Amino acid sequence: MVNLGINIGDLNFKNPVMTASGTFGYGPEFDDFIDVSRLGAVFIKGLTLEPREGNKYPRMAETPAGMLNAVGLQNKGIEYFENSIYPRIKDYDTRIIVNINGSYLDDYVTLAARLDKLEKIPAIELNISCPNVKMGGMAFGTNLDSAREVTRAVRAAYKKKLIVKLSPNVTNIVDFAKVVEEEGADSVSLINTLLGMSVDVSRMRPSLSTITGGLSGPAIKPVALRMVWQVANAVKIPVIGMGGIMNTSDALEFLLAGASAVQIGTASFIDPQASVKILEGIEEYLLKKGFKDISEIIGYINKKG
Ligand SMILES: Cc1cc2nc3c(=O)[nH]c(=O)nc-3n(C[C@H](O)[C@H](O)[C@H](O)COP(=O)(O)O)c2cc1C
Repeated sequence: MVNLGINIGDLNFKNPVMTASGTFGYGPEFDDFIDVSRLGAVFIKGLTLEPREGNKYPRMAETPAGMLNAVGLQNKGIEYFENSIYPRIKDYDTRIIVNINGSYLDDYVTLAARLDKLEKIPAIELNISCPNVKMGGMAFGTNLDSAREVTRAVRAAYKKKLIVKLSPNVTNIVDFAKVVEEEGADSVSLINTLLGMSVDVSRMRPSLSTITGGLSGPAIKPVALRMVWQVANAVKIPVIGMGGIMNTSDALEFLLAGASAVQIGTASFIDPQASVKILEGIEEYLLKKGFKDISEIIGYINKKG
């Protein structure tokens, strides 16, 4: 038997394989493909206070080693979530974590306070890193003072576990990780998408309506891995790593570099069973290598130089 459980503070997760926000809906979308309850956690689609239509189409484009998206946080808002979605997902036997987004500081605070009241949501992921929405999102995550301010305000309004999702679109991501740790974040997750663009030469127009968008998938993995390694070595709180994890080997790279858990994003679009296959692969790897506990491999490369 291998122990796959990990912790964020005193909150335990049955295993370190989680789904990345915006790539897994609310969970039930995947019920036909996998037993969602096998996962360590489901990070649900980005939530805002008011309903959002998202950006104009086209808002997805394939690139040679990944994809660009500019969905723009399309969702039906907190009220719909509380009344219609929460009752459907609250009984999954996994951790349900809500990814929250805002245009203004108060949006984040109000959302956090309302989610604090939902018994089956043990944590929120504060998205201060969305590159595709005007006003807010990345604006908070690319300025150190704003990142500090929003984390402090949400921490005051939210008593459960607070995970802050960092933007890679900064000069030094370690500074941001340290600031949010100082302000009481229980964990950091990284990376969100990297700002990119592509041009449709047949239409002679940008591929996305927003011109630029968020790049995800295999193309960003080496950058994500480098950032996760840097942050894991700089903070004491657990790091959740993501960015281009397509298979077991990719996930293991993040764990060995110091991530306590991993989120699977773009891979689920290609194979809806990717997350569970990666979970099985990690367990098999630990058995093969003779480890008894996942903690033995977290940050292993740092221990052995
Ligand atoms: C279509 C799409 C929608 C996304 N929506 C969100 C979102 O609502 N909130 C968020 O924090 N990240 C969002 N992300 C970013 C992912 O959660 C993840 O950080 C990123 O895709 C990198 O991981 P990957 O390369 O494994 O996909 C989205 C990504 C994609 C591809």
